[in-house]
Amino acid sequence: MSNDAKHTDSSSRQPASCKIGAGPHAQAASPAGKRPAPPCTLVIFGAGGDLTKRLLTPSLYNLTVDGLLDDGMHIIGVNHGERETKAWLDDLGQSLQQFAADKASESHTGKVDEKAWKWLSSRMEYMAGEFEADDVFEALKQRIEKTPHGNAIFYLAVGARFFRPIVERLGKHGLLKEDAHSDGRFRRLVIEKPFGTDLASARDLNAHILQYAKESQVYRIDHFLGKDTVQSILAVRFANAMFEPVWRREYIDSVQITAAETLGVEGRGKFYEQTGAFRDMVPNHLFQLLAMVALEPPNSFDAEAVRGKKAELFDAIEPLKPKDVVFGQYEKGDAGVAYRDEPDVARDSTTETYAAARVFIDNWRWAGVPFYLRTGKRMAARRTEIAVQLKRVPFLMFRGSPVESLTPNVFTLRIDPAHGTRFDFNVKIPGPTMQMGAVRSTFNYNDFFDERANVGYETLLYDCMLGDETLFQRADSIESSWCAVDRVLHPEGGAMQVHGYPAGGNGPVQADELLARDGRAWRPLQGAE
Ligand code: BG6
Repeated sequence: MSNDAKHTDSSSRQPASCKIGAGPHAQAASPAGKRPAPPCTLVIFGAGGDLTKRLLTPSLYNLTVDGLLDDGMHIIGVNHGERETKAWLDDLGQSLQQFAADKASESHTGKVDEKAWKWLSSRMEYMAGEFEADDVFEALKQRIEKTPHGNAIFYLAVGARFFRPIVERLGKHGLLKEDAHSDGRFRRLVIEKPFGTDLASARDLNAHILQYAKESQVYRIDHFLGKDTVQSILAVRFANAMFEPVWRREYIDSVQITAAETLGVEGRGKFYEQTGAFRDMVPNHLFQLLAMVALEPPNSFDAEAVRGKKAELFDAIEPLKPKDVVFGQYEKGDAGVAYRDEPDVARDSTTETYAAARVFIDNWRWAGVPFYLRTGKRMAARRTEIAVQLKRVPFLMFRGSPVESLTPNVFTLRIDPAHGTRFDFNVKIPGPTMQMGAVRSTFNYNDFFDERANVGYETLLYDCMLGDETLFQRADSIESSWCAVDRVLHPEGGAMQVHGYPAGGNGPVQADELLARDGRAWRPLQGAE
């Protein structure tokens, strides 16, 4: 891939500078081919929380700028604690300004388009109330029934303990009934992770929700699927002829999936103590990446086709064995304090902040190919990527260059913070002798496309309004994912051991040994940009 080639698709996205400020009907605002979503009332439970401030509001704002929200859009933020709508909006508006000005933020746009914010904020209202109080649900019902469309999305941006009571009340107050009108009004439920803490609790939660809503009304979010770079994995695999023929056990040696963070638990000690890195990242985010890279080609890019192939893939994951999993916890190091010294963390905590696993997929395509997954807090670098390593050539005809001396071909799908792909391969080193040298070809999205402010929830919110479930998790897939990791969560021989690693390091040495057993090594977290 050459960096001087320019993309030629005239239907590709509009430049970031192509902005509006007057709501969704301004011309030339929407990314090509996209239409505004149908009108609806979006009810956000947890309006005072971090998710609403950091992700949902900036995403709604970006959708406004792109002209993808309807004039009939109305947003009701529910939270306990009396507050005026104005105070709530001032707070959200201020954060939006900060994110827009922050170059490191995915919402960076330089400055907020006041007209767009005015358009959006004039459609937002705050409702004080407890998540378990019946009067809140009656008030919501009245508001929603009064709208000409009757459409509503209930977004549960709350702690998992509130999922069941909120869904139950939505159900009991008739807020999830879709068939009362003949005009096809919709009622949808958006649920954040963690969806359960193991197989039994996820089954239980699914069963509870499905008493009150149909599966087609439930949108289980995994925000990794909102990332363009993750969605692009399917495009790279299936819109190019060169990958699919080699994308199988005959040619692929192994795959490494990494989600390393430099951040620690950032004030989420209480949540993290109960969750740990494995539950927080592996059966959800990392399995989603695994599915994107390993699923069979769907017949089309519609919800049932894609989700059906994903479900097959999750079913084929060989249940993880505790001996193939390593847990770690960061200790004091160059990059900061020990996990045990973080606020709200027990001084003798055995919660893991790092997890690595060797995973196999029992199907025709992948039998015998190891997928190595790792994730951790306070690591040496922030890096989310999938590295697909090809087998070495069977024989090297050039004298003096044994096959083993060659760098294997590695195709890397780079998700964060770099956005793009990289290919490592071999060429002849210039000179009189036939010597091989390893080189690298890199593609960066922003060399070819204008970057848009995107926090990752835009597509998910928009798709939910449209009723497109492709990027959301079906009940069976959630359960198969938990099923695949259940032995690690409930190991027969007692709790998993947790090994120390220095804050700012590469994870525990035991994780290196996991790969060394197979004659392999983790790809370095730093360098190779
Ligand atoms: C969240 C986890 O779901 O994903 C966090 O709860 C983690 O612990 C985050 O930091 C990672 O997401 P991203 O998009 O920042 O890579």
